[in-house]
Amino acid sequence: MSKRVYIESYGCQMNFSDSEIVASILAKDGYVTTDKAEDADLVLLNTCSIREKAEYTVLQRINEMNALKARKKGLKVGVLGCMAERMREDLLEKKKVVDLVVGPDAYRSLPDLLAEVDGGQKAVNVLLSREETYGEIEPVRLVSNGITAFVTIMRGCDNMCAFCVVPFTRGRERSRDPHTIVDECRQLVTQGYKEVTLLGQNVDSYRWNIDGRGTVKDPAQPVIDFADLLAMVAEVSPTLRVRYSTSHPKDMTDKVLEVMARYPNICKYIHLPVQSGSSAVLERMNRGYTREWYLERVASIRRHMPDCAISTDIISGFCGETEEDHLQTLSLIGSVGYDMAFMFKYSERPKTLAARKYPDDVPEVVKGRRLQEIIDLQKRMSHQRNTIQVGLQQEVLIEGVSKRSMEHMYGRNGQNAVVIVPRWNQGVELHRGQYASVRILSGTAGSLQGELTSFTLSPELDDQHAA
Ligand code: SAH
Ligand code: SF4
Ligand code: F3S
Repeated sequence: MSKRVYIESYGCQMNFSDSEIVASILAKDGYVTTDKAEDADLVLLNTCSIREKAEYTVLQRINEMNALKARKKGLKVGVLGCMAERMREDLLEKKKVVDLVVGPDAYRSLPDLLAEVDGGQKAVNVLLSREETYGEIEPVRLVSNGITAFVTIMRGCDNMCAFCVVPFTRGRERSRDPHTIVDECRQLVTQGYKEVTLLGQNVDSYRWNIDGRGTVKDPAQPVIDFADLLAMVAEVSPTLRVRYSTSHPKDMTDKVLEVMARYPNICKYIHLPVQSGSSAVLERMNRGYTREWYLERVASIRRHMPDCAISTDIISGFCGETEEDHLQTLSLIGSVGYDMAFMFKYSERPKTLAARKYPDDVPEVVKGRRLQEIIDLQKRMSHQRNTIQVGLQQEVLIEGVSKRSMEHMYGRNGQNAVVIVPRWNQGVELHRGQYASVRILSGTAGSLQGELTSFTLSPELDDQHAA
């Protein structure tokens, strides 16, 4: 009988994507995945260190595993991902329930480590690599709805933003072979997937066949940057939607914007984290751009694609942030008009530049109040952005039945906004994976509501008709 593994993922999309690589490596070792921890022989928590709260949640969850282990003899518990990297042996020592600790670049060693655990030892591998990209491993799609999939194109980060733990947990930046990326996307199309999201901490520094000093590695091969890669993936199929995350304002080029504008199947949506609207704070954050530079990048997006949606990440209460700095963040939110934002209170992370150099001096209540002001303003902006869509005709990729009503389906437009449409239309039912033409009738801060004007049964079917 095969062994069963239960994987629980926390943190960013990259971590969820890594869990699919882990599932693939373990499948070759005889494990099948289960979605119930109670049924598993092995529980793996793929963890996140980005803020203290994220780690706290996982530490609580590890404690809960004690009870499960007491009920289930022989159950093994492992910690993967960024906390594994950051806390290492500490985890094995302080949390007796943990048998296995494996960092993000060491998943290929999981079968060997599990053999050690079976032999009665605790096992750990948190070595970071300069090369590992898991390039040729075909992920086992775990979180997928069968319509949209994540494809990791690079790993690690070389940016050293002062607040950020990622360069410590994920190591040096490296790009995955573009041919394996394109092959994976082709495979997804044949499996019926309709959308891919290319993932990297800073996709704009994707570089294949060239090293950090600008030396071409293999003169017989072309150098491929992110814009080139984006075009290669867009060419895989005109009915495959292409998204990506995350752009970095200091590196986002007009070449990428030109490619986006050229291909109708590349979604007109850019996640462009600003972090703060104050140049003084950005400087301390070591972000590598000013408020003016950022606003110019936004203007360039609008020049290339007037209908492009933009979202962002914002941190409130970074070290030394004054009331004036905070007001600048609010004014920047107002002038960009983000469609959506992820907003956080600054949380000091051990070893980072900020932890070493600057006191975490904005009082908790002030961080909280500023965050609330940012959230309130952004909510109004999102509502505004959604209201101006009313009357427009949009293409929506249907993803499933609405969580609120069985009578409705939900999907996303190219700008990444959630659109709700009636499930039944003159007796014909909409299904997930279909592209629907929708007229937008109304919008709230969180979603759009629309009516169906037409839909294609399945893009492949249409291709066959055309052939
Ligand atoms: N690579 C991406 C984001 C990675 S982390 C980028 O460069 O933008 C996702 C977001 O978490 C960051 O954009 C930032 O807004 C937030 N974040 C990172 N470290 C944080 C910290 N120490 N405290 C609060 N928020 C943080
Ligand atoms: Fe962190 Fe900055 Fe790298 Fe993003 S670009 S992962 S915020 S160090
Ligand atoms: Fe968290 Fe690691 Fe992602 S710290 S946000 S899981 S890269």
